[in-house]
Amino acid sequence: MNPIAVGIHDLSLAATHYFLDLAVLAERSGVDVDKYYLGLGQELMSVPAADEDIVTMAAAAAQPILERHGTEGLRTVLFATESGVDQSKAAGLFLHPLLGLPHDCRVVELKQACYGGTAALQFAAALVARDPQQRVLVIASDIAKYQPDSPGEPTQGAAAVAMLVTADPAILALDAVSGIYSEDIMDFWRPNHRTTALVDGKLSIEAYLRASLGAWEDYRRRGGLALTEFAAFCYHQPFTKMAYKAHRNLLQANGFNPSSADLDAALLATTTYNRLLGNSYTASVYVALAALLDSTTDLTARPIAFLSYGSGNVAEFFSGRVVSGYRDQLRTVANAEMLAHRKPITFDRYRELPDALRAAVGNLVSPRESEGAFRIAAIRDDKRIYEVVLH
Ligand code: COA
Repeated sequence: MNPIAVGIHDLSLAATHYFLDLAVLAERSGVDVDKYYLGLGQELMSVPAADEDIVTMAAAAAQPILERHGTEGLRTVLFATESGVDQSKAAGLFLHPLLGLPHDCRVVELKQACYGGTAALQFAAALVARDPQQRVLVIASDIAKYQPDSPGEPTQGAAAVAMLVTADPAILALDAVSGIYSEDIMDFWRPNHRTTALVDGKLSIEAYLRASLGAWEDYRRRGGLALTEFAAFCYHQPFTKMAYKAHRNLLQANGFNPSSADLDAALLATTTYNRLLGNSYTASVYVALAALLDSTTDLTARPIAFLSYGSGNVAEFFSGRVVSGYRDQLRTVANAEMLAHRKPITFDRYRELPDALRAAVGNLVSPRESEGAFRIAAIRDDKRIYEVVLH
């Protein structure tokens, strides 16, 4: 008997109210903009307004999925994030009143830097394989923040991805094989008292490359596909050039000598959204998938490779096959609108936006700044008060 197909049935993205053009940051920092545009492969970064956070982005990403599929059979919500809003309470619980989540549904938050979304996806697939009647909502939502004027600053960003994981999925059937690599390394971390991440940038690149190879080798040992079989490779993209570094490294380690055109063929379509969003940590590899699926290439029945990396570190190499008819499920127009409707933020506003809500203690009322359907109205007695904005 063939094992039941399990995977991504629906996929939806959300970002923030603002974006900052890296040309503005380059000018203010006295850096050649090509370092960002070409060297890092980043053009814009999403910047949250003062009344947005990972919960408001998550709600905006998940709402279209629940509108399309309802909540029947939804027994689990897995919320992956590096930029959690509470040390105890799962961010997903704030979604109950915003989205009308059912009460007979477990809600849990997962953390392992940028890898958490993949842990959530794999755990979701296992739950559905055990009981194919159940569906799992996986959300990856993050705001990447580094110290102003640090090398990490141009690699900030924000986005959320929501995925409905089901049996007999309409978009991507996951392969059962996956390869894993983990080790204890201090390449990127954020102690509890900090609102911005600490990073050893060069070490993080080396660690990413080493972990990618380790995960790939494990994937192959477990019977995974050969490199030449994949139609495209979705990498975690802290900056899109990282996908090129990692893929070249993987190919060279396996005896290939890829040209720029070879790398573009495998990667370019996966980078178009991340280039405009910036790093979205847990969401980034699934933003890459959305961009790939939204591209003009017909991927029907083609295998796609994924490399998920979370500093600290855990990497996973896994694969899936694009399902026939997948285009009918895509949100290509909504994704384009989401990217186009963000507002440019001035450099001064970007720098003065104090990340007030993340650092706030006590009481704070947030004036309306964003224009989306969900916002933080206030923090009262250290409780976040979210609201749905009727348009
Ligand atoms: N035109 C074109 N390219 C340029 C350039 C210019 N004027 N100036 C520099 N570059 C290129 C560099 O050659 C380099 O490319 P390469 O890596 O292919 O050689 C790239 O731009 C970045 O320059 P570099 O000097 O290495 O940048 P940096 O020291 O300021 O830091 C990071 C880059 C990624 C380490 C830093 O942004 C960071 O710490 N980010 C956060 C952590 C992260 O994202 N880690 C990734 C793994 S998880």
